[in-house]
Amino acid sequence: MKNIALTGFMATGKTVVGKKVADILSFGFIDTDDLIEKISGMKIPEIFDKFGEKYFRGIEKIAVARASRLKNHVISTGGGVVLNPSNIVQLRKHGVVICLKVNPEVILRNIGDNDKRPILATGDVYEKIKALLAERQHYYEFADYTIDVSNMSIDDAALTVLDVYSKLKTR
Ligand code: S3P
Repeated sequence: MKNIALTGFMATGKTVVGKKVADILSFGFIDTDDLIEKISGMKIPEIFDKFGEKYFRGIEKIAVARASRLKNHVISTGGGVVLNPSNIVQLRKHGVVICLKVNPEVILRNIGDNDKRPILATGDVYEKIKALLAERQHYYEFADYTIDVSNMSIDDAALTVLDVYSKLKTR
């Protein structure tokens, strides 16, 4: 069966919702951020710190290509995966790409105090979230379908992903 690739901004619930969906479908689950850490042998903040974002995006591309080749998997992607359109092309080859959308207030709440995301490490977090969301909006639109999960529980979001997948898997 085709994969389900979840895209969307940081802290929109891609991992937690993706795991739930994988459980229900008895699919495997893979997170591209985990794969990046495995490939590089480093934690994400360390990669940014030592080698910068460009290097990180290079490894991310390899991770996406690897994950895309799997079958029967839910693939949770990092929030910046969409910035390289070829990543979306890869994910769509064997999968349905579903974007989870959340408003900036919920993102801020989900992120909490102990955020380890280097992209949000400098400046005012809320302002940064809003600016990045605006900047990336266009890229997130390349998904097959977008679900606004701002007011949904994890279970509701998972069920909506399943519903969308069942309609789009034969496209
Ligand atoms: C990033 C999102 C992160 C991670 C990295 C960069 C981004 O993943 O890939 O810190 O540029 O939006 P999550 O979306 O899982 O937080």
